[in-house]
Amino acid sequence: MLELRNITKKFNLTGAKEDERTALDNVSLKIEAGEFITIIGGNGSGKSTTLNIISGALKPDEGKVLLNDVDITNLSEHKRAAYFGRVFQDPMIGTASDMSVIENLEIAYIRGKPHSPFKWGFSEKDREFFKNELKRFDLGLEDRLDQKVGVMSGGQRQALTLLMATMRNHPTYKMMRRDFALFGEQDQAEAKRQFDEFFSEEKNKLDERIKTIKNSTSDTQTKKNEIKQVKDEFDAKIRAKFDLTKQILLLDEHTAALDPKTARKVLELTNKIVRENHMTTLMITHNMKDALAYGDRLIMFHLGHIILDVKGEDKNRLTVADLLKMFDDADKKAEEE
Ligand SMILES: Nc1ncnc2c1ncn2[C@@H]1O[C@H](COP(=O)(O)OP(=O)(O)OP(=O)(O)O)[C@@H](O)[C@H]1O
Ligand SMILES: [Mg+2]
Repeated sequence: MLELRNITKKFNLTGAKEDERTALDNVSLKIEAGEFITIIGGNGSGKSTTLNIISGALKPDEGKVLLNDVDITNLSEHKRAAYFGRVFQDPMIGTASDMSVIENLEIAYIRGKPHSPFKWGFSEKDREFFKNELKRFDLGLEDRLDQKVGVMSGGQRQALTLLMATMRNHPTYKMMRRDFALFGEQDQAEAKRQFDEFFSEEKNKLDERIKTIKNSTSDTQTKKNEIKQVKDEFDAKIRAKFDLTKQILLLDEHTAALDPKTARKVLELTNKIVRENHMTTLMITHNMKDALAYGDRLIMFHLGHIILDVKGEDKNRLTVADLLKMFDDADKKAEEE
C-alpha cells in the first residue's frame, strides 16, 4: 500500500560538488498494509531521510512515493499529515508544552477530523477513555490530565506523543468519501466515482447476504447475530480501503532519549497499539535486540542503500551477532571500493 520507487536524495550544503552527500541512492521499498518494519543502520545511512520522504517533510530528487497506488510524491506534508502518525527521538517535539495533557489530546483528536466543525472539550466519557489509555503506559499520566505538558518527564511526553500519533477516530462514510477525494492527486470527481462504485457494489452484496439470512430457517437471535456480523464485515471492508487516517506510524528512535525502564514501557505499549490497530509501522532503532524482537520485517540501511530486507522465519533466525557481522562486512566492502 505504501511504496517507494527508485528514490534518490542528495544533500549539498555548500554547492561544491565535493560536498555533495547521497543520502538515498535509488532506494525501492514496498510496504504492505499492517506490516510492522524495524529499521537499523549506521549514523547517516539514510534512515531518517527515508521517513522524511514518506511523510513529505522532504522531497526526493528522483523517484516516486505511492500510497494505495496514488502518486503522492508532490503532495504537501500538511496534506499527508492526516494519514501519518509520527514520533521523533526528541520528547520536546510532538506535544505543546503550554497546554495540559487533556488539551493536547483534544488537539490530536480534532486534527484527525480535519473538516469537521470545531467542537472543543471532551465529555466525561471521553476523559475517562483517555485516562484509561494513559494508564496503560504506567507512567502516572492518568492522574495529571490537567497539568501542563511542559513540566512532564521525557518519558511521559513521549508516551503522550505516541498516544496522540495513534489516536484514530471513526469518520462517517461521507467524511471518508470527501477525504479520499481531497487526498489523492487524482481528479476529485474520479475519486468520488471510485468510492461510490466500490461502496454500491459492496452494499449490494451486503443486501443480498442479509436477504439470504432473513430467508433462512434459523431462529430470530441467530439471524440477528448473523446480520450484525455481515454488517461489520461490510464496514471493515469500506474502512480498510478508504479510511486512511493515522494508518501509518513513523517512529524515529522514539525511545532513544528515555531511561532503559521507561524505554521498555514505551516500546511495549508501542507494540500493543500497533498490533491492536493493525497499523503499518516503520520503527527506526539503534537497538538491535529491539529490532529483532519487534516487528515482522527488518531492514538494514548502509550508505543510502538497503542491504538487508528479511521477514518471517528468516528474521526470526537472525541474531545480534549476525547483524553486527553484516555491518562490519558492509563497512569493509565500502572501504575496498
Ligand atoms: N537536512 C539535511 N541537510 C544536509 N544533509 C543532510 C540533511 N539530512 C540528512 N543529511 C545527510 O544525509 C545523510 C543521511 O542522513 P539521515 O539523517 O537519513 O541518516 P540516519 O540513518 O537517520 O542517521 P542517524 O542514525 O545518525 O540518525 C547523512 O550524510 C546526513 O548528513
Ligand atoms: Mg536519523
